[in-house]
Amino acid sequence: MTRLLLKGGTVVSPEGREAADVLIEDGKILRVAAGISDGVDETLDARGLHVLPGVLDPHVHFREPGFTQKEDLFTGSKACASGGVTSFFEMPNTRPATTTRALLAEKKALAAAKCLVNYNFFIGASKDNLEELDAVENVPGIKVFMGSSTGDLLVESADSLERIFAAGRRLIAVHAEDESVLEEAKSRFPSPSVLDHPRLRSVEAALSAVRRAAGLAIKYRRRLHLLHVTSTEEAAFLSENASPLISAEVTPQHLLLSWPEAYERLGTLAQVNPPVREARHAESLWKALREGVIQCIATDHAPHTLDEKKKPYPSSPSGMPGVETSLPLLLDQAAKGRCSVENVAAWMSENPARLFGAAGKGRVAPGFDADVVLVDLKKTRRVGEGGTQTKCGWSPFDGLPLTGWPVATIVGGQVVFREGDFDLTVRGREIVVQ
Ligand code: DOR
Ligand code: ZN
Repeated sequence: MTRLLLKGGTVVSPEGREAADVLIEDGKILRVAAGISDGVDETLDARGLHVLPGVLDPHVHFREPGFTQKEDLFTGSKACASGGVTSFFEMPNTRPATTTRALLAEKKALAAAKCLVNYNFFIGASKDNLEELDAVENVPGIKVFMGSSTGDLLVESADSLERIFAAGRRLIAVHAEDESVLEEAKSRFPSPSVLDHPRLRSVEAALSAVRRAAGLAIKYRRRLHLLHVTSTEEAAFLSENASPLISAEVTPQHLLLSWPEAYERLGTLAQVNPPVREARHAESLWKALREGVIQCIATDHAPHTLDEKKKPYPSSPSGMPGVETSLPLLLDQAAKGRCSVENVAAWMSENPARLFGAAGKGRVAPGFDADVVLVDLKKTRRVGEGGTQTKCGWSPFDGLPLTGWPVATIVGGQVVFREGDFDLTVRGREIVVQ
């Protein structure tokens, strides 16, 4: 087996940073120490660079099968590689929706053939697939849409929800917007503009669903992960009702964009479910993240073509891409002093790995998988400069100068991305979830 040495970099963990070389063998990290030189076949010069655990993005939509005009597993995973994302968990609202073991196996087979980074897939809850949810193996969890969003996976009735929480043990990841509150708001806005999006999908809708889901998790002692929390009120609820059973994520767009500014500037490109809200919410989300009330960052990478996005609101679909920009956006926040690079390693790698039980992921340390990203904390570049990898070809952050960019991405010990070039022969592996 060839031994790859990352030489002369600064290794970052949630606890701190140290000048150290990283020796990789057979897809694993063998040693992390200063001055390694023996038995090396290949050396990658990491001087001046920081060595971070590769990002594990626990929430992406890669659209295959069914919507490959927006993205597919190859382009989505290539976008991951360029963004320092070495592992992803993908959502079931494809066509067909991933609601059976057989469909899940088909997705995994596609991923094995096409993905440049490591992968696994949520199974979707529908009204009538309890047996599948119970029997499925090696998935990060069960995805439940409590409110309708892109696609037709929706579990709104109290009975169906109750049954899902009552049966089985696997983690349940919830899109928490209450369908009845969403429906009621629609009647109050007969001809809405995109600026009404957060009114149509209110804090009340989100909070009501979070309360219901948390109540069920406690009642049935079930592990619950709340997807994309967006408001002060949800963060306060989570802080007051902290439980080892409940975890939560936040997206870069909800931390960094706000109403009305983003909507006035970007129109429907800012449209996402749950919505980007007033700046006070973003402030609360940062605070919740710093305090550990929200433990991780996920992109909710949800690409749509520009043609689709340009339909007049509300016919325009909700969602925006994210895997190419999540790490640079957070490193840029670290450069601005809003958080530390150690925080970024915790929020984007170690914590998601721990929360979902992703074996061997989340740290640059001996015995862990060699999923690593080398970043240049001083490099400034504009989003979109030099092109994008996601098939949708746009970002809500296009043109924004950011400081802190991935220079090389290593998946299972193989250099998949380096200075703008890709090794398209690299393949990721199915992530083992314990
Ligand atoms: O904005 C969103 N887009 N929210 C979702 O819940 C789904 C996603 C998508 O798949 O487009
Ligand atoms: Zn999503």
